Amino acid sequence: MLAIETSCDETAAAVIGDDGRTLLSSVVDTQVAAHQPYGGVVPEIAGRRHVVSIRPVVERALAEAGVTLDDIGGIAVTNGPGLVGSLLVGVNFAKALAWSRNLPLVGVHHIEGHMLAPLLDAPDEDVFPAVALIVSGGHTSLFHARAFGRYTRLGRTLDDAAGEAFDKVARLIGLGYPGGPAVQKAAEGGDPRAFAFPRPTLEKGHLDFSFSGLKTAVLTVVRELGAEKAADRRADLAASFQQAVVDVLVGKTLAALEQTGAKRVILSGGVAANGPLRTRFRLEGEARGFAVLIPPMRFCTDNAAMIGVAGARRLAAGLRDPSDLDADSALPLVEEVQCA
Ligand code: KG4
Ligand code: ZN
Repeated sequence: MLAIETSCDETAAAVIGDDGRTLLSSVVDTQVAAHQPYGGVVPEIAGRRHVVSIRPVVERALAEAGVTLDDIGGIAVTNGPGLVGSLLVGVNFAKALAWSRNLPLVGVHHIEGHMLAPLLDAPDEDVFPAVALIVSGGHTSLFHARAFGRYTRLGRTLDDAAGEAFDKVARLIGLGYPGGPAVQKAAEGGDPRAFAFPRPTLEKGHLDFSFSGLKTAVLTVVRELGAEKAADRRADLAASFQQAVVDVLVGKTLAALEQTGAKRVILSGGVAANGPLRTRFRLEGEARGFAVLIPPMRFCTDNAAMIGVAGARRLAAGLRDPSDLDADSALPLVEEVQCA
């Protein structure tokens, strides 16, 4: 299976073996440097760069897997959610290739890809049923994933995604884009108890998230300190902010596990690359007897390997999409997807 992912600012292609799990190649061409001067992803630039990169990225994925198009049995592509101009590049490329080679085409929901990413590391395990926390620049949601294709959303962010909060706070404390890795690095020498930032929504009985209050709390402290002192205290600010986010994400996920009775927990999405979050998730989950599934870091951030694994499952379940498959920037996942 050849898989293509272009939902945001990475042009990615991967080849998955006949068993639907073995990864033969995964190529990710990141556009981070192109968006850096703007402090965030510029949709027009992203779309244009995908157009330039898509063909060489697919060719590299085939070459690194040691295969040609003649060996490919199906094409999977992310068809939403994401930036529509970016999604369209991958979807149209995949459609044209599937049509010209007479290959089955499967559209994959980006979040379903993130959920299945742990399979790339532990191919003998299954990931469902589970509670899944998907945390990235665009999403922060908790799902009860009963089986492949059967997902109930338990909670979502009411304002910013966790990754967005990392990106915005990074800017507030004078760090670059993308903010997540920069905040994690800055936090290394800092005291996570230095500032008592709020743990928004943690004490409330629901499973929704909210990060804009936390961001405002950081802004208030930065203003009170003034530019010079805030720069001196950057490590403490980063560590205290990161700790608040980790506390909320871990606390809500444990509540979701209790509520659903699930025995497995999946952590995935770009923010799942965060070291302290991974460590806490593993420690707290395993101490309570849960199987904790976290993909290796390179499969947490956007990639096509996860889309290939999800696409191969769809194909094996007899699902395929027509040649008029469209990109949908707000593609729904919950309840609407019902596989065997
Ligand atoms: O999944 P992803 O690559 O793209 C989306 O689907 O959004 O996630 C990107 C997000 C960015 O907001 C980035 O700051 C965040 O993931 N991120 C991190 C780390 N690495 C990436 N956040 C916290 N700590 C990290 N180490
Ligand atoms: Zn993503």
